[in-house]
Amino acid sequence: MGEHPPGSFGCDDEGMKIVVGVTGGIAAYKTVHLVRLMVKAGHTVTVVPTENALEFVGKPTWEALSRNPVTTSVHEDVPEVRHVRLGQEADLIVVAPATANTLAKMAAGIADDLLGTTLIASKAPVLVAPAMHTEMWQHASTQANVHTLRERGVHFVGPEAGELTGADSGLGRMTEPEQIFERAMALGSVAQDLTGCRVLVTAGGTREPIDPVRYIGNRSSGRQGIEVAAEAARRGAAVTLIAANIEQRLLEGLASSIEVSRVGSTAELEAAVHLLAASADAIVMAAAVSDYRVAEVADGKLRKADQGESLHLNLVENPDILRGLVDARGSSNLAKPVLVGFAAETVASDEELLERGRAKLARKGCDLLAVNAVGWSQGFEKEHNHLWLLEAGGSLMGQAEGPKGETARALVDALVPLIGEIKGLAL
Ligand code: C5P
Repeated sequence: MGEHPPGSFGCDDEGMKIVVGVTGGIAAYKTVHLVRLMVKAGHTVTVVPTENALEFVGKPTWEALSRNPVTTSVHEDVPEVRHVRLGQEADLIVVAPATANTLAKMAAGIADDLLGTTLIASKAPVLVAPAMHTEMWQHASTQANVHTLRERGVHFVGPEAGELTGADSGLGRMTEPEQIFERAMALGSVAQDLTGCRVLVTAGGTREPIDPVRYIGNRSSGRQGIEVAAEAARRGAAVTLIAANIEQRLLEGLASSIEVSRVGSTAELEAAVHLLAASADAIVMAAAVSDYRVAEVADGKLRKADQGESLHLNLVENPDILRGLVDARGSSNLAKPVLVGFAAETVASDEELLERGRAKLARKGCDLLAVNAVGWSQGFEKEHNHLWLLEAGGSLMGQAEGPKGETARALVDALVPLIGEIKGLAL
């Protein structure tokens, strides 16, 4: 282990090299169990406590459980260059518990002890389990630090609501060791190839109001876009999901690091995309956006008695948001952001699907087009999908069939090198 390309790594049979940073909170006693779980699972664990952490659980406990020497100082073991070696070799760093003080130091890059140097000498994914009193967690400074760290690709688990150290209870309790362990293992098995990238994903279907109570909409559930957002976040990206009329229950399982912005109509979706487009490295337009809207939305409910036997709605064309983003980016297609479109087509054959996809790709001018067939019984609302991925120029980059999580993985796999290209150019 420790030989993976920068920014990516994976598990193998020998287990991972895990650094467990322990900071000065009472929850340190729970981290004892976390370290046990990791060692039992065959991982090589080095515990790096802060000086304050040792006030709660002493060095001999950490050394006995991890079966590795423990130090807090950068001045010990100097010939081994321990202050950077640990970070460089780590496959994963877990900081549990993380105090408000440590979060502030991490956000600022302060490296005045072994944990600080290890963190900034490392490219490994970092999972942080905060633990502190509710007021400290909610303080604007802590929230700003958490935001900064999330933007940088740091993963968070918790804090949870529950009993705190004193008589009080509230948000701030460290997540239980078993759950931290599960998250750490999941993180350890996923390449962190989008660390430091911002990805914007639209999902769901827009609704065009007719009057205060009616709309024209479509059957998109938002599942495919949600899976793309989740996959990008798992791989280290800072993700914003623009959710167009998505059922709340579908959004509930999403990692808390994903920012969700809810929109209704195409105009709202367009405004939300434009607000965030400049900071995005990639935009994945998975939402089914209405091509038309009602020209004049009625102020009051349209009454049957006023309409007679037939009702005529005057529809006008909506702006094509994706096309607009392509135009705004200019002629160079190797500029930020990478633009991914979706095409949902009712077709009779795979050939027809790809033919339509190629035509749409040429019309839209995006960098990648994910094409899928839809119909009364496929595509929309379903948990499975068959995605075909066309790159600029029309060549088929790949296809994936299966649960929407799997098709999302294929899409993100195709996206990573494109983001790499624009990031490389930007250097
Ligand atoms: O033209 P069509 O609606 O088939 O194109 C689908 C793709 O274009 C999707 O990625 C969708 O999010 C995007 N789109 C858009 N603005 C529209 C219509 C579609 O950005 N008005």
